[in-house]
Amino acid sequence: ELRAPVREEQFAAVIAHLRHNFFADEPLNRAVALCAPGQPHAELEAHALATLRDGLSCVALHGATGQVAGVALNGVTRPGDVARARAALDALADTKFRRIFSLLYGANLQLDLFGAHGVDRVFECRILSVDRRWRGKGLACALLRRSEAIARQHGFKVLKEDATGLFSQRVAERCGLRAVAQVRYVDAAARDEASGHAPILPPRPHDCLKVMVKILH
Ligand code: ACO
Repeated sequence: ELRAPVREEQFAAVIAHLRHNFFADEPLNRAVALCAPGQPHAELEAHALATLRDGLSCVALHGATGQVAGVALNGVTRPGDVARARAALDALADTKFRRIFSLLYGANLQLDLFGAHGVDRVFECRILSVDRRWRGKGLACALLRRSEAIARQHGFKVLKEDATGLFSQRVAERCGLRAVAQVRYVDAAARDEASGHAPILPPRPHDCLKVMVKILH
């Protein structure tokens, strides 16, 4: 059962789901060994909660138990937000988190989705996560399609996702998103090594980051 928006009393259950399924498993998080399954992560939780407060997210609940089976955490991104977020990374203590978000923000700063599409806000799917026990059944696709419906209801023209691994890229493609930018992890790692930074190399089959977009007519 899909529910949107996610109510405040469900935030704690969503965070618990992310601790057990997203923080450790997402390909970039895995590449830097950000967390062990079940472990909390202050910066990622702050990122998730800020996104939940935008009121555009949806959750899939397991019918029999009411447990969180998956989530799409969606937020609004406006011009200047990414540059500000990147500048704020310097103040963060967690170097692994900083490396991941430098890569994501760097790819996004190469693009001007606002100018390209004549909009002042973009609907961004920031976290797409399905419980390990229920993967491969189309749940992520259902969550992304519902997210698209939410974006349309709120009058957004651009839906965007940074798809960090092959499976999320397949899901996004199936839902009609197309890659507008791509960073091969080996290329980013070579640049990092050349500048003395630790490289991020997700495990196979995840070989690139794709910034993926769907224009909503
Ligand atoms: N091995 C091979 N293929 C797989 C696997 C696997 N372990 N898991 C999923 N896939 C494939 C499926 O076959 C399907 O592709 P296909 O239809 O072309 O065959 C696709 O990947 C998955 O489709 P769904 O069933 O809709 O996706 P699912 O409900 O399993 O959720 C998700 C996908 C969200 C990526 C899940 O694997 C997950 O939570 N992973 C950890 C967190 C993560 O990486 N999230 C995305 C990061 S990007 C972001 O958050 C914006």
